[in-house]
Amino acid sequence: MRLLRSGFAPLATGLTALAALLVAAPAAQAADAPLRDLAHAKGRAIGTAVTGSKLTGTYGEIAGREFNWLTPGNAMKWESVEPSRGTFNWAEADRIVEFAEANGQQVRGHTLVWHSQNPGWLTNGTWTPAQLSTLLKDHIDTEMTRYKGRVDAWDVVNEPFNEDGTYRSTIWSNGLGTDYIAQALTWARAADPSAELYINDYNVEGVNAKSTALYNLVRSLKQRGVPIDGVGLQAHLILGQVPSTLQQNIQRFADLGVDVHITELDIRMQLPATEAKLTQQAGDYRAVMDACLAVSRCTGVTVWGFTDSDSWIPDWFEGYGAATPYDENFAPKPAYHAIAASLGGGTTEPPGDGCKATYRVVNQWGGGFTGEVRIDCTGAALRAWTAKWDFGAGQRITQAWNASCTQSGTSVTCSNASYNGTVPDGGSVTFGFNASWSGSNPVPVVTLS
Ligand code: XIL
Repeated sequence: MRLLRSGFAPLATGLTALAALLVAAPAAQAADAPLRDLAHAKGRAIGTAVTGSKLTGTYGEIAGREFNWLTPGNAMKWESVEPSRGTFNWAEADRIVEFAEANGQQVRGHTLVWHSQNPGWLTNGTWTPAQLSTLLKDHIDTEMTRYKGRVDAWDVVNEPFNEDGTYRSTIWSNGLGTDYIAQALTWARAADPSAELYINDYNVEGVNAKSTALYNLVRSLKQRGVPIDGVGLQAHLILGQVPSTLQQNIQRFADLGVDVHITELDIRMQLPATEAKLTQQAGDYRAVMDACLAVSRCTGVTVWGFTDSDSWIPDWFEGYGAATPYDENFAPKPAYHAIAASLGGGTTEPPGDGCKATYRVVNQWGGGFTGEVRIDCTGAALRAWTAKWDFGAGQRITQAWNASCTQSGTSVTCSNASYNGTVPDGGSVTFGFNASWSGSNPVPVVTLS
């Protein structure tokens, strides 16, 4: 840089003006930046499950443009790749991996060891433990070797636990004992040493008996030196039910020295979808995104299908649907804008001038004070919000309520809690904080986004 620039010193003023003009144009379009660009700028993944046969037309355009990771929704499951013993069908999985490579995307392999979607020949067979062990090792070897160096992370073991934290009774735990998990991970590491190895499960998003069992398993695997790189939290959530302990739970896994990925996010609602439910859903998506982004070892978020036309929910949960960020006609829903906003993008539905933040000091004493920010909307509404200001006089936030606040140097950023992202037209939301001060305590200007 220094060498290139040195000769141009006399032209600097004119060039700077030109550069400013050139930069201004793309910046003005930041509202429309694809999710993958926003995520990339933060060093995170934004992924989607996909169906290989659909990767053309609008579906293919969105999958390629918006996401930097892909997970085959079904194509890599055992019943898909080896429907009859020794007869392999890699067509759909190949197609997805090739699409990802053509679009500069990374791939999550899903999944090698599971109780579900196994071929009939396997589940109906009678096997000795030794035979079962060989079958499993061969399956892991065959599939991982086929995609060696091309699949970046594998959900090696899927859904090993019951809700109460005991091990699920499956063909694997029954036949091989619960150490099948350690064996599978060890075989997986040997098959492709460059792939990140995950254990993946559902209902392990908050701190509960099941996630604690997973936590204890990961801790013991680490202690034993069994290869394990990450934990997948599926996050098939219900509207309005993002666990309040999500971030805390992500953090405790990170503290064990493993990565965390939200692997299968969808947020289902009872149909029909209404404006109010879609607004709530946006807040819920925002809360999940924010929880992940708050923990550096949370590698990112993958949605389980990006469009309601390619979601498993209506088939599996009667009366529920509308769980993904795009509707059935590929129109982005409020949830899409909430993901973008969380990743630092603008939204195409900006708050406009209709929403204002008012800051006031409620109570002040020597060295400390309580502050409050009220957001009022008239002629506009918010589905998620972030309030920012500068504590130029050295004030420091010590505690906040009804928002999650972080302070870096003098700059303060407060985002809605999971339950108060919505500010309807004509409505308001208030959050508060305690902070320290010394010298002076001027009122800052708060900007909303
Ligand atoms: C689902 C697929 O999306 C459906 O198409 C299929 O019929 C059933 O499986 N947890 C997982 C995923 O780990 O593999 C499941 O995917 C959803 C629940």
